[in-house]
Amino acid sequence: MKKRKFIKASSALVLGATMSPMMACKADLKEGAAAAVSEKVMSSGGSFELPKLPYAFDALAPHIDAQTMEIHHGKHHAGYVRKFNAALEGSDLAGKTVEEVLSAIGPDDTGLRNNGGGHYNHSLFWSVMSPK
Ligand SMILES: [Fe+2]
Repeated sequence: MKKRKFIKASSALVLGATMSPMMACKADLKEGAAAAVSEKVMSSGGSFELPKLPYAFDALAPHIDAQTMEIHHGKHHAGYVRKFNAALEGSDLAGKTVEEVLSAIGPDDTGLRNNGGGHYNHSLFWSVMSPK
């Protein structure tokens, strides 16, 4: 699955899960996912770490195959974390949460916005997708 298709499918999943009036646990899912993401994207000792995937790479098959998950976690997400840490190095924003960083930056801070956002979005995807 291509990155764009994965993001589109994941976004649709998130939207469907949070917007469906038929889901009794709508509010719980939204609050639970946000809390889980906040925990996973917190910096530790001034730098961010790639969170461990909460299930096996092949757990979402046949909808998302293992190779796609490995690429998005081990390459995309790891790259966002690495570049986010590099962009924060020496910044006054080092040691802040990703939410604090993204709230404090300006329109020209593309490195922080793209990489912090990529880290946050991938963390959200891992939290809201489940083999169950
Ligand atoms: Fe990705």
